[in-house]
Amino acid sequence: MNGIFVNSSPVTDWSDVLVCPVCASELVLSQSEMPHPSKLACENGHQYDAARQGYFNLLTGKGTKFREDTQDMVAARLRFLEAGHYAPIAEAVASAVPADASLIYDAGSGPGYYLERVMNDLSSSDGTRAIAMDISRAAAKFAAKVPKTLALVSDVWSVLPVAAGSVDVVLNIFSPHNAEEFRRILRRGGRAIVVTPLPHHLQELRDAQLGLLTIQPEKQAKIHETFSEGYALIQEESLEFSLNLSPNEIADLVAMGPAGHHDPTSTETEQRTVSCGVVITVFEKK
Ligand SMILES: C[S@@+](CC[C@H](N)C(=O)[O-])C[C@H]1O[C@@H](n2cnc3c(N)ncnc32)[C@H](O)[C@@H]1O
Ligand SMILES: [Zn+2]
Repeated sequence: MNGIFVNSSPVTDWSDVLVCPVCASELVLSQSEMPHPSKLACENGHQYDAARQGYFNLLTGKGTKFREDTQDMVAARLRFLEAGHYAPIAEAVASAVPADASLIYDAGSGPGYYLERVMNDLSSSDGTRAIAMDISRAAAKFAAKVPKTLALVSDVWSVLPVAAGSVDVVLNIFSPHNAEEFRRILRRGGRAIVVTPLPHHLQELRDAQLGLLTIQPEKQAKIHETFSEGYALIQEESLEFSLNLSPNEIADLVAMGPAGHHDPTSTETEQRTVSCGVVITVFEKK
């Protein structure tokens, strides 16, 4: 069972939104096996099968130079997020989403923790739906369980598989940002909600040399530059909090990030207080 079809009875047709990553014509869900349609297809015969876990893999060509998050990394991320440690971030993101948003596109959704929060808040509006995209199949498997959500495996650096001007809100949380494509898919007045870490985010773990990457001090200035063309900055909020984490929680926090690609991850044995600092920046498409 997966969330796309089970949780979304009013949402069966995506042809108004989805476009084929090869030829850009409409992508239609195969209706033959409802309520479990098994493929997306365009009129030129390009087909994308649903994985057993409910997501569609739209990657084409030779693949990508980006390394996908592994099952272990995604499992660590889910354990950490579902324990509520980043709930203040989810809260801030959800409050930046307009109540009348009808299509949300989460670029680099991971397992869909933030999107689920957003969709729960919007649950009173029947027509609301979402696309969760990530390059990681392990992440897409979980994102496919988010209500009213279509989960796609796709590369944010390629042309995004949705029609121009079709999206109300792009979520982009700790993930790579393709501002040009986000602008193309957003409708005029639509929002890109971008979450990035401040330089001191998780500094105690960096000091403990647990394999976390350095955060460039000029990162936020770069975000402004990246989203300068065709966007207006409408909101920028820093969020600071600290977490008291057990060794296992620290191990998950380390393993869910890029350090999770390397083995071994954390050798932390102490309970620690860890500082969190992120910025939620909201741009509006002009
Ligand atoms: C730090 S995680 C954040 C995930 C999620 N937004 C969250 O905060 O829980 C970054 C995500 O970006 C995805 N990602 C990395 N490169 C990507 C790409 N080229 N296209 C799409 N997703 C990508 C990773 O697979 C990972 O799930
Ligand atoms: Zn096609």
